[in-house]
Amino acid sequence: MTAEVHWNTAWSIEEGVTRVTRLYETTFGEAPAGVWQAPGRVNLIGEHTDYNGGVAMPIALPHRTFAAMSPRGDMIVRLVSAQEPGVREVDLTQVGPHDSDKAVEGWPAYVVGVAWALREAGYDAVRGFDVAIDSCVPFGAGLSSSAALECAVAVGINDLFRLDLAGSAEEPNDTGRKTLVEACIRAENDVAGANTGGLDQAASLRCLEGHALFLNCRNGEVEKVPFDLASQGLALLVTDTRAPHSLSDGQYNERRSCCESAARNIGVEFLADVEDGDAALRALSDPTEVKRARHVIGEIARTYDAVRAMRRGALRADVLDEIATLFDASHDSLRDDYEVTCRELDLAVDVARSEGAHGARMTGGGFGGSCIAIVDADAVDRVAEAIADAYEREGLAQPHFLMAVPAMPAGRVQ
Ligand code: GLA
Repeated sequence: MTAEVHWNTAWSIEEGVTRVTRLYETTFGEAPAGVWQAPGRVNLIGEHTDYNGGVAMPIALPHRTFAAMSPRGDMIVRLVSAQEPGVREVDLTQVGPHDSDKAVEGWPAYVVGVAWALREAGYDAVRGFDVAIDSCVPFGAGLSSSAALECAVAVGINDLFRLDLAGSAEEPNDTGRKTLVEACIRAENDVAGANTGGLDQAASLRCLEGHALFLNCRNGEVEKVPFDLASQGLALLVTDTRAPHSLSDGQYNERRSCCESAARNIGVEFLADVEDGDAALRALSDPTEVKRARHVIGEIARTYDAVRAMRRGALRADVLDEIATLFDASHDSLRDDYEVTCRELDLAVDVARSEGAHGARMTGGGFGGSCIAIVDADAVDRVAEAIADAYEREGLAQPHFLMAVPAMPAGRVQ
């Protein structure tokens, strides 16, 4: 039995610019002032650590969201997306938190939320704009399509209203970008109402081509760690399980509040502050809190171990073995202790491992979404076919596959 393997290839910059410019022109009847892009991400390791004050290690994907934009003289934002019919119009003076009478319905919240958050942060120069959006970041795949949307708009707003916070994708102003990250997080948490932890926005704005970003979510400090699989004859295969996935279904919030409660019961501000893991876990009486905290404390330690291994040199021999062991342990902990995997994720991981992957794990929030596997470059097709076949045998909808190569961060492209 051979299932057909579906590859989700990233658009070139030219293709993204052409698509979004055409959409802008047919919608608004003139050329946009510019075009900006922002990438989706995969997190290599450090899952569900960001809102616990921990560390994570994302890379930016070559799959991007494109935004064609022009400033307006007033406070109106007009939005069009290739993914949804119709033009939306939002008055920026009528934007506010999702639980207020100024709530914004649907996807425009991620766009106008960024403008609102920047104005709240004192950037009064931000005013209305027209924007057209198109994207090849798969939606709902755990690859940060919403952060890519926020961050593309954030770098667009930065340039349109001369906020001077972004620099270029090639020469980013990393300090300024931290401010843009904060605005995008507020857009997502406050305006869109998704209580996520900030990993995705930092990845999209602060990653560097050819590198993983070792990110301290507590203080925003970063270290750029070379991540070059190709030179070692390796590749990072992403399986988008296409299992139903939603962060707003309450499960994510439930995990987050369980961690906050565990931290309170241990007597620390964040689980990342725990120094003696065994003693901390003994201080907890609720078995669910024990499991959740054990994942977070262990995952933070694994992420430090991973960056230490990667600093030693190229991804081969003992370095590769150690990363593989850490990836596998991360997934198993997310499956058994954090309980955020699902049948589709576990199956893709199991098959990748039995096909010889050097470590395989789910990435992102879980409950569906995607998994990553380090595989020999010449085995990519075979591993993808084996996963597709296993899905077919199990009667699951076919997954999609992507190749993840660490790509550049958000910036202007036209
Ligand atoms: C989602 C959230 C992130 C992070 C991950 C889990 O992607 O948006 O903030 O919590 O899940 O690591």
